[in-house]
Amino acid sequence: MAVIGIVREPAGEARVSATPATIASLGRLGHTVRVERGAGAAASFPDADYEAAGAVLVGRAEAWGSEIVLAITAPGPEEIALLADGATLIALLSPALRPDLVESLAQRRITGLALDAVPRISRAQSMDVLSSMANIAGYRAVVEAAHEFGRFFTGQVTAAGKVPPAKVLVAGAGVAGLAAIGAASSLGAVVRATDPRPEVADQVTSIGGTYLPVDVEVAASTDGYAKATSADYDRRAAEIYTEQAADVDIIITTALIPGRAAPRLITASDVARMKPGSVIVDMAAGQGGNVEGSVAGERIVTDSGVIILGYTDLASRLASQASQLYGTNLANLVALLTPAKDGRLVIDFDDVVQRSVTVVRDGEVTWPPPAVQVAAAPAARAAADPVEVAPPKKMSTARRVTLIVLGIAALFAVNAFAPAPLPQHFTVLVLSVVIGFSVIGKVHHALHTPLMSVTNAISGVIVVGAMLQVTSPIPVVQVLATIAVLLASINIFGGFAVTRRMLAMFTLGNSAKGGRK
Ligand code: NAI
Repeated sequence: MAVIGIVREPAGEARVSATPATIASLGRLGHTVRVERGAGAAASFPDADYEAAGAVLVGRAEAWGSEIVLAITAPGPEEIALLADGATLIALLSPALRPDLVESLAQRRITGLALDAVPRISRAQSMDVLSSMANIAGYRAVVEAAHEFGRFFTGQVTAAGKVPPAKVLVAGAGVAGLAAIGAASSLGAVVRATDPRPEVADQVTSIGGTYLPVDVEVAASTDGYAKATSADYDRRAAEIYTEQAADVDIIITTALIPGRAAPRLITASDVARMKPGSVIVDMAAGQGGNVEGSVAGERIVTDSGVIILGYTDLASRLASQASQLYGTNLANLVALLTPAKDGRLVIDFDDVVQRSVTVVRDGEVTWPPPAVQVAAAPAARAAADPVEVAPPKKMSTARRVTLIVLGIAALFAVNAFAPAPLPQHFTVLVLSVVIGFSVIGKVHHALHTPLMSVTNAISGVIVVGAMLQVTSPIPVVQVLATIAVLLASINIFGGFAVTRRMLAMFTLGNSAKGGRK
């Protein structure tokens, strides 16, 4: 049974790597959890709540000395000294940027797992802290912008006059960008977005934004991240930013290509074109900035009165929510590493997620991992790889003619020999089967659900007819009538339920579009 230590983060980081709820999940995996006193205080998780969830409160050295240490911030030399030899450390290690840290972990025979190296594949989504933090940060960027901005986001018609909605431009529609678009459009702003990956256009539109395309071809992504843009693209995009800067009130930039400095999108002259009181949030300020003049971690006011926020701790500003999501991601990773739920951590290098996050194993540097390919352009893939659809098998003409002749003969036989009123009912039944089959059989599959509303009406008539027959003195008729009532009722209620869901989908789609004015 391994002992997991939850450490208190350094000053300036309000988040914590586990919350009382995620501690309970770790406990169910067979681990014992120690929490450094005060670790969750800044995120509003008091020590007493951790104790109630089954954790043991300990001092700093004891927490860092655990077999498995969970953290957010990468450790400094002082913390590395506190780690036990052979321990496992799981945190945001930024191995690409911190080779020195990777080396010092290796020297201490520490196993280091970098949470920021989780690959962007669907199976790993539940462990993807970068995405869950970027989602929170995108939302918070809008909140920060709204806080600085001197007007409403939503348009209003009031007795004191008409208020136009704020116009927001989001540069880069990745995880953070989409969260920002969603938050700004739900506040009522007019939101526009750019991104070199054209496949995001639908996502932007579906959450209430308008996608501004840059009509220059861009290479498709193979790993879920963008590739560097061409000079042609940058030139055309720059024109769009200059145009938009004069029009919009708020710009939120999130553009990033992994492993590179953030691309410079908004120039000082674009900033100068913005109206006084406009706000820019440069989410990439920590990676060099998308905006000329932004400073990492700072709030700047330009000579023309534009506020530029370069905060790098946006997720930490929603510490409680961020800790909960980070802790859940981390608990999911620990669950993957504890397959037998027996408190024993096992790292399986055949598993692409475990291989990708492991930067040091038992003192051996295993960074960088082999590249993971992610198909991020489904449309292009579908075009290159057409799916062959087998043509439906047709009945031979001779067989069809035989069946028709047999049917007509049966109809004549029933009409000639059956007592009245059976022939009349039988003829109506046969005609309705033939007409119904040929009419409904020709309806396109996509329209089958709306067709259910029509069949509801038919089922209604069946229920009425069957109810009249339920009182019949003949037991067989009674049984058949009961079955007919049951089946037709299932059809009616099921049909209404499905139709309602479909209508709700349309309503949702329209209200999302309605947000975009
Ligand atoms: P992401 O990789 O999901 O999105 C980045 C987007 O930028 C991609 O959609 C990409 O296509 C786009 N992009 C790349 N080059 C571009 C260009 N020239 N023009 C327009 N768009 C371009 O990344 P994610 O997770 O959304 O993070 C976005 C940024 O936010 C990163 O810089 C990240 O470090 C930062 N971040 C900042 C936080 C803070 O507190 N300030 C917290 C979390 C993330």
